[in-house]
Amino acid sequence: MSDVLHINGGTPLSGEITVRGAKNFVSKAMVAALLGDTPSELRNVPVIRDVAVVTGLLELHGVAVTADTGAGVLTLDPSNVESAHVADIDAHAGSSRIPILFCGPLLHRLGEAFIPDLGGCRIGDRPINYHLDILRQFGAVVDKREQGIHIRAPRGLQGTKIALPYPSVGATEQLLLTAVRAEGLTELSNAAIEPEILDLINVLQKMGAIISVDTDRVIRIEGVPRLRGYRHTALPDRIEAASWASAALATRGDIRVLGASQPEMTTFLNTFRKVGGEFDVDDDGIRFYHPGGDLRSIVLETDVHPGFMTDWQQPLVVALTQAKGLSIVHETVYENRFGFTDALRGMGATIQVYRECLGGHPCRFGQRNFYHSAVVSGPTPLSAAEIEVPDLRGGFSHLIAALAAKGTSQVKGIDLIDRGYEHFTDKLAALGAEFERD
Ligand code: EPU
Repeated sequence: MSDVLHINGGTPLSGEITVRGAKNFVSKAMVAALLGDTPSELRNVPVIRDVAVVTGLLELHGVAVTADTGAGVLTLDPSNVESAHVADIDAHAGSSRIPILFCGPLLHRLGEAFIPDLGGCRIGDRPINYHLDILRQFGAVVDKREQGIHIRAPRGLQGTKIALPYPSVGATEQLLLTAVRAEGLTELSNAAIEPEILDLINVLQKMGAIISVDTDRVIRIEGVPRLRGYRHTALPDRIEAASWASAALATRGDIRVLGASQPEMTTFLNTFRKVGGEFDVDDDGIRFYHPGGDLRSIVLETDVHPGFMTDWQQPLVVALTQAKGLSIVHETVYENRFGFTDALRGMGATIQVYRECLGGHPCRFGQRNFYHSAVVSGPTPLSAAEIEVPDLRGGFSHLIAALAAKGTSQVKGIDLIDRGYEHFTDKLAALGAEFERD
């Protein structure tokens, strides 16, 4: 199937869709299965490409993965874990950022790991220095080679005391997946505490790990020699839910997102309401809708949890083009997450990006020439355009813009969106969107 969508926009999206487990949790829980000596069962797993990529990598390492995609159940049997051939692993180079998280589990299981060049969205430099520093502190030896990174643990892995320079999600996960089976105690300060990380801690605890999370971003782990498999239902994808909520707002629509859960979305829901959106929460999900009238401009700053997620920013900015007045958005997690606004400007939006830290607290990107603040002036009608999808969340934002715009837009590269949005074209159809795939 071609990766071009022709979208005839201007119709409010309306109806009901379902979101399943969080992409940014499911992939990590799959990696955690490597640490057990019995099979694990993960439920509420969406059909997205990131799951397929991690499945491929686990299979290369001898994990038997069986999937019931309809029911959303994965069984992962790590009984026969083995070293994979570098050439095979390299075939996955550039397809995801998850391989870096294989390090700790593979070091425990095999004493060595090879990590290919990483992929993921191009939204900044996305270095892995925190990950490598963590692994070295546990006693691993890191050898950077042309094709990737070779890591060994000749004397095993020992618990350690680490403070992160920034509460990185991936680095916190790296530490957890390594410390649970390292010898002795580990303490991490300035840890990320995103709900997806807390659910990973739930999984590890089910496997036999001993982990405590303090209120001051300190995580403590007592290493144990063995872990078993787990049975777990993944928490829902709050990024996907917020993406559909933003689509409802931008198209003046009404979308009930089954599976969406309030506690992980409190900060988003507050902002959604301040912009002028309405929502009703019930036991099955959340209905997001445009109640009519004008949307309101806001001042917004992205941050680590419990702040406003960086991944919510891009879809919401499209809705802000329809709000009355000047909105100010300060992106403090990634230095380069406003590239997607070029296409919005081409569709008639008035968005200006700045190097300064606007509207919030000075962040680590201030005075460093990164265009990480944006001023959005609205409301501006959007007109159809030809758009190339730049990254996962930016791409979904372009879809929203095309759905809100009058006329027929051509959106190219939509395969990228399959990485993190399950069956999104089926969902668009269920919501009454008018589109064709070449
Ligand atoms: N950072 C470093 N060095 C490191 C690691 C991170 O400088 O070694 C910096 C990054 O460059 C960035 C900041 O720390 O500026 C935060 O990065 P973090 O490590 O928290 O992000 P991540 O683990 O690579 C995950 C999600 C992202 C999400 C972020 C923030 C996955 C697979 N990815 O990335 O999700 O934006 O946390 O919540 O879990 C997405 O789903 O589209 C996506 C990009």
